[in-house]
Amino acid sequence: MRALLAGGAGYVGAHTAVALLEAGHEVVLLDDLSNASAAVAERIGRITGKDVSLVSGDATDEGAIAAVFDEHGPFDAIVHLAAFKAVGESTQKPLDYYDNNLNTTFALLRVGMARGIRSFLFSSTGTVYSDPADLPFTEESKTSVDLSNAYSKSKRMNEVVLEDVARVNPDLDVTVLRYFNPVGAHPSGLIGEDPKGVPNNLMPYVQRVAIGELDRVGVFGTDYDTPDGTGLRDYIHVVDLAEGHVAALEKGEPGYTVYNLGTGEPVSVLQLIASFEKAIGRELPKDLLERRAGDVTATYCDPSKAERELGWKAKLTIDDASRDAWKWQSQNPQGFAGV
Ligand code: UFG
Repeated sequence: MRALLAGGAGYVGAHTAVALLEAGHEVVLLDDLSNASAAVAERIGRITGKDVSLVSGDATDEGAIAAVFDEHGPFDAIVHLAAFKAVGESTQKPLDYYDNNLNTTFALLRVGMARGIRSFLFSSTGTVYSDPADLPFTEESKTSVDLSNAYSKSKRMNEVVLEDVARVNPDLDVTVLRYFNPVGAHPSGLIGEDPKGVPNNLMPYVQRVAIGELDRVGVFGTDYDTPDGTGLRDYIHVVDLAEGHVAALEKGEPGYTVYNLGTGEPVSVLQLIASFEKAIGRELPKDLLERRAGDVTATYCDPSKAERELGWKAKLTIDDASRDAWKWQSQNPQGFAGV
């Protein structure tokens, strides 16, 4: 099949492009490059031995999307990964987050449906689940738009829109993938996560401490009700996550379907740091700090629906993710800026 990946030059997008190409599909990337680099296309080409078109453009702009269909279509599927995703920033700039994260969906759906796409795959988040009593979260667990930040709310709002659109377009496959915490990099070390500025997320922060760009890892909260007192998350290797997209697209069944993409294994902050220290063969300087505002104690999923229905299961471990993230970071100390 031929897929348009909106936000395809980003962290998850680039790995998804590789996985689709390696499974024999064709991809075109559309990205405004606000949080990604054009160098990604050449790197994807090097990994897969295939040419990749990257169009620089805004996925809120129906004209720009239509132009991609004119030049590179037809497409069987749209994979929508084009979103603002910084949780903290979203609390300061809610209008920007709602505007971008909803208008991309509206524009991609309008153009895609007019041009006859069969599948629309949407990147959502495990943070839409609202009741910790439901852990591990299944797709039936309670969700809410009453969440702590505009990023997560915008993702849940998108799901509501997509469910309604699917209802009146019964031939369309609308699939929502709720990601847990993506980490790691492609094992080639050629593509990986490259956040601008000081990273907010744990793994990229640890990576920057390991290359000496940041001084110390801060552990946010050691008094949680967990085995070692630090927060628990479901860290999924980005290559596994990318393969989840391939499995969902290949199933392509009409209707609205939601899948959790995670490992199902809760891992603590200290365990993740220890895994990274093992990968680099040395200890990292750490500070045990207060809890970070807005963090939950634990979030992890039950991924069994994806295994049952898609035949997909996460195979890689956090040690694999640490090894691969380190390979990417050490080979590309300035990320794509150094390419
Ligand atoms: N943490 C630290 N130190 C840091 C950064 C994080 O101790 O420097 C801790 C956090 O307190 C938390 C854990 O590491 O316990 C994971 O934090 P991240 O910031 O890496 O990830 P979050 O679980 O907060 O959220 C992330 C993304 C969201 C996404 C969510 C679930 O930021 O975009 O995963 O998909 F929605």
